[in-house]
Amino acid sequence: MTSPTPPLGIDVTDPALYAEDRWRPVFAQMRTEAPVNRCPESPFGPYWSITRHADIQAIEARPDIFSSSYEHGGITIADLPDANFIAMDRPKHGEQRRVVAPAFGPGEIGRMATSIRQRTGELLDTLPIDAEFDWVDRVSVELTTQMLAILFDFPWEDRRKLTFWSDVGGDIASTFDPAANAIRNGHLADMTHYFDALFAAKRALPPSGDLVSMMAHSAAMGDMDFAERTGNLILLIVGGNDTTRNSMSGAMVAFDRYPEQWQALLANPGLAAGAAPEIIRWQTPLAHMRRTCLADTEVGGQTIRAGDKVMMWYISANRDEHVFPDAEQLIIDRPNARRHLSFGFGVHRCVGARLAEMQVQLLLEEMLARRMTVQVTGAPDHVAQCFTHGYASLPVRISRAG
Ligand code: HEM
Repeated sequence: MTSPTPPLGIDVTDPALYAEDRWRPVFAQMRTEAPVNRCPESPFGPYWSITRHADIQAIEARPDIFSSSYEHGGITIADLPDANFIAMDRPKHGEQRRVVAPAFGPGEIGRMATSIRQRTGELLDTLPIDAEFDWVDRVSVELTTQMLAILFDFPWEDRRKLTFWSDVGGDIASTFDPAANAIRNGHLADMTHYFDALFAAKRALPPSGDLVSMMAHSAAMGDMDFAERTGNLILLIVGGNDTTRNSMSGAMVAFDRYPEQWQALLANPGLAAGAAPEIIRWQTPLAHMRRTCLADTEVGGQTIRAGDKVMMWYISANRDEHVFPDAEQLIIDRPNARRHLSFGFGVHRCVGARLAEMQVQLLLEEMLARRMTVQVTGAPDHVAQCFTHGYASLPVRISRAG
């Protein structure tokens, strides 16, 4: 039996909730009073909010009913036309995912680890000690941009173009304004043209382990039209950049808030591997993924109708006390940290998850090796949107433990 729609129609797409870091009590109330509830009106139209861990897993386990397809509006609250494999259903999703997946397998990751560790260490050695600087720009952006350049085998001196395209691609808000959208599309077309030259060069060479080569030489992705090339490039650039960037910034905010956890790591650096998933849970770099319901169905006692927009709030599921006791607290050795939903669940679960965790782990390990402690020295500047959950800037000061 289904109960009437609960009276909680809170619009959690409101950017101010994230800009002002006020989302916690709002989602806590929803989880308790109306875990599956419909917001009748928002700038994005009506939508359902799914706020509990178990309900999100149940939805992601039924991709035939809860579609990711861009043909229905895709995977964000905004209906984006980006034709990429995160926003496709089977069979095409699987065909394209299988092309890039080997780039994130244990062999390739092991190969990349050495160079990521070395570059991380080199970057840390350039940072000022006992002087304020912006952690986001100097560390998080630079490290994740470097990693993308390694993944794509991208011309090193041009790598900040990847940062720029990531920001443009992740800027959902500008798709509402025709003038801003035209500018966005212009930048994205530049990106695709730039990559087309790289694809041509890789096609002329034997296959190698980087993403551009893998795509260029594959049957499923070797011959994509312009829109699909653009869509998949945005996916790989935004997917690998903003998310890991905000994990690296979130880590500093979390350790500043729970300094005893950093002390525990300094005392036992071997815990860094376990701390990485806990940081990614705590930060939840993507607040949501969206699905479109294809057939009337029931979730958490509510009837969701065909055509309805369904928002899976990972940011809420990762604070679900049924799964994570003291969920707000960062606990570096939390036994079930890996049950977090920051990477999603099911057939679309993040293909770069292991690589992202490794980067966070290597950053922590290299900081610990240098006995660095980071103190946040001013208010973080939070990104004002409900998809990417992160920081535009974060003033910090580093000190060294004796
Ligand atoms: C902490 C860092 C990261 C987070 C939080 C994250 C989060 C996510 C989420 C939530 C999904 C969708 C899951 C779903 O719908 O169930 C996803 C998919 C994906 N991610 Fe990540 N991601 C991260 C790092 C990366 C990296 C480093 C890459 C690689 C460059 C990457 C590439 C992708 C791709 C290609 C997909 C689409 C997978 C599919 O649809 O089958 N991500 N990610």
